[in-house]
Amino acid sequence: ARTRHYKFNVVMRNMTRLCSTKPIVTVNGEFPGPTLYAREGDNVLVKVVNHVKYNVTIHWHGVRQLRTGWYDGPAYVTQCPIQPGQNFVYNFTLTGQRGTLLWHAHILWLRVTVHGAIVILPKLRVPYPFPAPHKELVVILGEWWKSDTEAVINQAMQAGLPPNISDCHTINGHPGPLSTCASSSQDGYKLQVESGKTYMLRIINAALNEELFFKVAGHKLTVVEVDAIYTKPFTTDTILITPGQTTNVLLPADQGAGRYLVTASPFMDSPIAVDNMTATATLHYANTVSASAALTTTKPPPLNATPVASSFIDSLRSLNSKQYPAKVPLKVDHSLLFTVGVGVNPCPTCVNGSRVVADVNNVSFVMPPTAILQAHYYNISGVFTDDFPGNPPFTFNYTGSGPKNLQTMNGTRVYRLPYNATVQLILQDTGIIAPENHPIHLHGFNFFAVGRGLGNFNPKTSPNKFNLVDPIERNTIGVPSGGWTAIRFVADNPGVWFLHCHLEVHTTWGLKMAFLVDNGKGPNESLILPPKDLPAC
Ligand code: C2O
Repeated sequence: ARTRHYKFNVVMRNMTRLCSTKPIVTVNGEFPGPTLYAREGDNVLVKVVNHVKYNVTIHWHGVRQLRTGWYDGPAYVTQCPIQPGQNFVYNFTLTGQRGTLLWHAHILWLRVTVHGAIVILPKLRVPYPFPAPHKELVVILGEWWKSDTEAVINQAMQAGLPPNISDCHTINGHPGPLSTCASSSQDGYKLQVESGKTYMLRIINAALNEELFFKVAGHKLTVVEVDAIYTKPFTTDTILITPGQTTNVLLPADQGAGRYLVTASPFMDSPIAVDNMTATATLHYANTVSASAALTTTKPPPLNATPVASSFIDSLRSLNSKQYPAKVPLKVDHSLLFTVGVGVNPCPTCVNGSRVVADVNNVSFVMPPTAILQAHYYNISGVFTDDFPGNPPFTFNYTGSGPKNLQTMNGTRVYRLPYNATVQLILQDTGIIAPENHPIHLHGFNFFAVGRGLGNFNPKTSPNKFNLVDPIERNTIGVPSGGWTAIRFVADNPGVWFLHCHLEVHTTWGLKMAFLVDNGKGPNESLILPPKDLPAC
């Protein structure tokens, strides 16, 4: 294992997209940001230097941060932000993981432009459990707003309405040709291939607010890994990927020549506007003479194509091989049911007299003034309570048959878990307003997605259908609109771990909470405490 040093200079940079130019926050002037390469077992040190006027933190999405929770990155959860002019060194080891993950800013909406890939190669001389590809390419899906995203969310919070949708989706930073966004005539990203060779695409959804379908005209994709966990390979036309998820696919370049359209299109409709803005890129065969050779196109799945999404999700299984076993917890110490949803609260100061809120078990999470992790380890009182969800004065209604409890209460509450406890968590969507899936992300753990269904979870019958053999293991999972998802994990990582919807707008509205896992000694491990140089609030 090696130590890898990276320097992330957070700087402003003018960028032109959709025929207009605006300054954006970037890492090292790049959009998307630089790829972080390492091998399983490596120690990674990233020095982040903040040259902009905003507070910044970086989250290493999906990196387990075993016993280094203070380097996880969510602002006010595990650390205070890196203030303008300051710097901070993140220092973590990639234990027991290999595959694709992503890093992104974890404060306000900064991650819209501050994100990039994490590529963790297997240990030296350890092969992939599938034929080695000729080449590997990172494909980052994102979003572009012509206006300032800070203004977008501020306006939404004041008006109490959903924020504007983005002006276009992007593939490696570009809307691309034939994209349905107005006035985008750029060439976009070109994927260069040679006929007869197989490529691995490391696909990342870094969009703020959109689950996406991804397709390549005339080519099949074989899924081999999601969220840095190997899967049983399966072949498909279309992949579904939620914000925060990563998917590795093998793409055999089995056509003779030509140019082929690549599309990234929205899965669900936005509640306020029809979002049909498809981003595109092109796949080019090396022997294609002219860049203007005929383009083979493809139609992306229509909006709300639930059957396409379901068939993709149902095909996902952990590899569960001898070398990479799926260690699903079979006994459960903590059995939890969290409702996740969006509601409306009265707001006398808001333009409409009410505002949209989101919650977990009717609690809208309020960011504390100082980091919960620091408050926990240094015994600072008054920052959070460990009684999640407490006693909301509302009864849950997640039948979808009528909005009885749109009201939420505010709180900074965590759920406390003893070290090494096993947890089963049912995530139940309330589907009351704004029917949308919620891509729920848990920091610090991989979990097994053991079950999924529409309607209400039934504690008597639903568990009978759980897959406890080879369920998919991941860090971000789409909870179906009006349905539920069951996950299991082992609380083997002391610290404070954020759980939230990876649609940034829902996080902003309060769809977030945190688990606090008590300290405890693992095998051959001593207790470790946070370093002294964490930023102060
Ligand atoms: Cu990728 Cu808490 O986020």
